[in-house]
Amino acid sequence: MRALLVIFALITVTLAAPFAAAQKVDLNVDVSKTGAKIDRNIFGQFAEHLGHGIYEGIWVGPGSSIPNTRGIRNDVVAALKAIKVPNVRWPGGCFADEYHWRKGIGPRRPETLNPNWGGVIEPNTFGTHEFLDFLDQINAEAYLSVNVGSGTPQEAAEWLEYLTTAQPTALAKERAANGHPAPYRIAFLGIGNESWDCGGNMSPDYYTSQLKIYSRFVRNFNPAQQEDQQMFKIAVGPGGGEPRFADWTETVMKAYQNHQWSWDINGLSLHNYTVVNWEKKFASVGFSESEYSQILKATLEMEGLVSKYSAMMDKYDPQKKIALVVDEWGAWYAPLPGSNPGFLVQQNSQRDAILAALNLNIFARHADRVRMANIAQMINVLQAMILTDKEKMVLTPTYYVYKMYVPFQDAAFVPVTFNAGTYMNGNVMLPRVDAIAAKDKAGKLWLEITNVDPNQSVEIEVALTGMTAKSAAGETLTAPRVDSVNSFDTPNMVVPKPISAKAQGGKLSLRLEPKSVTVISVEQ
Ligand code: AHR
Repeated sequence: MRALLVIFALITVTLAAPFAAAQKVDLNVDVSKTGAKIDRNIFGQFAEHLGHGIYEGIWVGPGSSIPNTRGIRNDVVAALKAIKVPNVRWPGGCFADEYHWRKGIGPRRPETLNPNWGGVIEPNTFGTHEFLDFLDQINAEAYLSVNVGSGTPQEAAEWLEYLTTAQPTALAKERAANGHPAPYRIAFLGIGNESWDCGGNMSPDYYTSQLKIYSRFVRNFNPAQQEDQQMFKIAVGPGGGEPRFADWTETVMKAYQNHQWSWDINGLSLHNYTVVNWEKKFASVGFSESEYSQILKATLEMEGLVSKYSAMMDKYDPQKKIALVVDEWGAWYAPLPGSNPGFLVQQNSQRDAILAALNLNIFARHADRVRMANIAQMINVLQAMILTDKEKMVLTPTYYVYKMYVPFQDAAFVPVTFNAGTYMNGNVMLPRVDAIAAKDKAGKLWLEITNVDPNQSVEIEVALTGMTAKSAAGETLTAPRVDSVNSFDTPNMVVPKPISAKAQGGKLSLRLEPKSVTVISVEQ
């Protein structure tokens, strides 16, 4: 009988959902309490030599009819500047562990292969100098991944000497001859990529000995990076929740705890993609509400992973000196029909906007440990910010989430308590809303509220402790359908619109559209 009642209740909820009245959720924000800084680097990007992520996406070459500056597309640079990209991870991914930097400098660039991603020709026309020029154009920091898989410590050490020394060594003179006399700034260094898998299938112990060698010898000589601006070294960490990654994490962290003066790390990476079924990946367009809810349920597993690995790290690093760097995350769907399956081309919908917000909020709530993250990937690959087709460019719903979250970069986390309520689809149950708050450097309060429910709007009432709100306004991103996308023909299907809240009796109230991401700032 009880089971029948539950089934009846579920059917009632499912059928009634599109027509039901708005739900109500109360948020309590205690402005007098601030937590950790939400590091701007959690809004980092990842650009791999994969499909059209680099070639066509960033690099068109100086002779192209597409407007460019020294070969780098101007439209893409302008779009990325607007989201204040803090750092870009390059050249991979799996590509990094087969990348030999010398092939990408100087006037003669050999054509090589890209065996990981479609077996296509890698022209090497976009190499070290082009990457750093691109970063200069968008004002972002470099996150270089060195080749631990098929390279040597010497090759990686010479790359860093070439890039960073101010002394007149042969490598520095070669750098100058290639157009850059001054040392480059390299803020972040990844020591290997997925070394437990595509990066060489290493055991935790084998990787840890490699890590010590690379950490010791791959030096940054830039005189401006010797004291408080030192290069941040990131070790390979776990990839999802498989049991083998507990052992991996313990081994690397234990080695760190016992480390000698001669080597060090500052971060441990975590890779975790949102996929319900790797063998039968979901489509990125034309999907049902069921696939919407299943993907969002899967994406919320990030919370458990971040908590689990943070707790493991606490054991060896209670002072939280080592950052958990989620340097590959995002939705991974089936390749778009007709595309090269090795190019990982997918569309990006309102579902991805919600997914991005939920993950960014998880990182913000763990800001004391998660101090860097890189969504995969920036352009034309997986959950991209930007899609291009020759001279055309379109900004995705995920791009707009990053734009709306700019005020959260380096803001101080402010605790929000709320009873999220639930949204149900079939047997998938999700929190109806999610929210974070933060105070920026000027003391302004920012709130992000996500309405996960694709059918019902939510009436939000915000009670503030420690502040009397006069008004609040910002932007909201929603769409006609969960699978609405911005295409080259309809680039403005999913774009943010203004929203404001009413202030009354010290409380703010606003109505959130179904399936929406909203960011508002509060005036006092
Ligand atoms: O982002 C695509 C690939 O996913 C990366 O190259 C690899 O590190 C991961 O498995």
